[in-house]
Amino acid sequence: MTSPQPAPARAIVLYGRASFDHGQNLKALAASLADLHTARDATVTVRTAYADLSGPALPAVLADLERAGATEALVIPSMVPADPSLSAWLPGALSHWAGTQGSRMTVRLAPPVESALDLPAALDRIAAGPAEALADVRETDPSLGKPGWSTIPEHGRQLFVCVGARCLHRGADALYQRLRETMKGHRALNAGPHRVMCARTSCLYPCNRGPLLVVQPDAVWYGDLTPERIDRIVHGHLLTGHPSTEDVLHRNPPPEEPAMG
Ligand code: FES
Repeated sequence: MTSPQPAPARAIVLYGRASFDHGQNLKALAASLADLHTARDATVTVRTAYADLSGPALPAVLADLERAGATEALVIPSMVPADPSLSAWLPGALSHWAGTQGSRMTVRLAPPVESALDLPAALDRIAAGPAEALADVRETDPSLGKPGWSTIPEHGRQLFVCVGARCLHRGADALYQRLRETMKGHRALNAGPHRVMCARTSCLYPCNRGPLLVVQPDAVWYGDLTPERIDRIVHGHLLTGHPSTEDVLHRNPPPEEPAMG
């Protein structure tokens, strides 16, 4: 008869991105960290959580650990390069999570790993450090993020620029930088009712016509982007409101209302 697994009392959560390898690298790091730490303390469990794509997201992982009996969790931001915006929202958001969930688990947030060089050793150093040196996130005021993040900024259009693998391969990143640089020179595109908000997206589907972007709410798709095309889109469509016809790949007609019944 196998003896029951000891309930985890202390948990380590590696918090990273899954964008480039579906989280495989982080899972491998978690496995090697688990080997090191369970040799010292059999009650330690190591999990992964992701800030992007399909998750699992950090709150779900923490809730799961608490249900499994964890009494304290150390969250280590493991994105390399580190995401400087995390410190602006994650401590308050974790405090908010703990309060709204009625969590009794102590959650500590470690400083992010700074370098990809010898990442396993860096994670081990952080995980093996004295836990008491880090405050429980509940000592931070609970918040959902910066107050400004509660409102939709005034704007006229949104641009969705594909930076999926195929579009990146065809130069989407440099074109995105050119787009931002070109837009910077036009005050109307950066504030007020004609502001254009830009978002980078994963694959938008017609990869063979990439790099591509979509302008909403006009439902206009531009493909086979070049620097010249980017300039025409900015000076034509974004500044005058008239799509750059010669460059349009596709335009959706307004959707028909679905039949009720
Ligand atoms: S990668 Fe850009 S459309 Fe598929």
